[in-house]
Amino acid sequence: MSDDVVELILNDHRKFEELMRGLRDSTSDRAGLRDELAQLLVAHGEAEEREVYPQLEKKASDDEDVEHSEEEHAEINKALLEFLEVKDLDGDDYDEKLEELAEVLNHHVNEEEQTLLNDAREEVPSEERAKLGAAFLVARDTLLKTNCGRIENVRLVVEKTKDRID
Ligand SMILES: [Fe+2]
Ligand SMILES: [Fe+2]
Repeated sequence: MSDDVVELILNDHRKFEELMRGLRDSTSDRAGLRDELAQLLVAHGEAEEREVYPQLEKKASDDEDVEHSEEEHAEINKALLEFLEVKDLDGDDYDEKLEELAEVLNHHVNEEEQTLLNDAREEVPSEERAKLGAAFLVARDTLLKTNCGRIENVRLVVEKTKDRID
């Protein structure tokens, strides 16, 4: 499997789309998919912020693009928390919160691929992208082991990053 940080991030973005599609399906295991999405979203975003964004900021990207992406992570986490707080997985509130999450998540994925990931493709040599990818994976997998998508932790993350979107 590739260690290229761009490929690894794109793999997760594809997985988000797959999970979101499952979450729209009324016959799927929505509780299970919602938990899986929460784990991966939190681990992916935090690992980007720890291991990828700072390096891109140094080597390839505008600080404004990085800061903007971090703001969008905060918006995603807030929308995720509201979605996790929904009790009735077949109700109108579920559809509404899922749609709100889809909106901020799709927007961010598009923008990240158009800005930061293109900067990485164009400016960062492949050996360095592989190093970044390895560090990204370690951070992401370590977070996944801590059950980082549980609602209590998502609440903490939202609290910690709320100033980004005030
Ligand atoms: Fe991403
Ligand atoms: Fe991101």
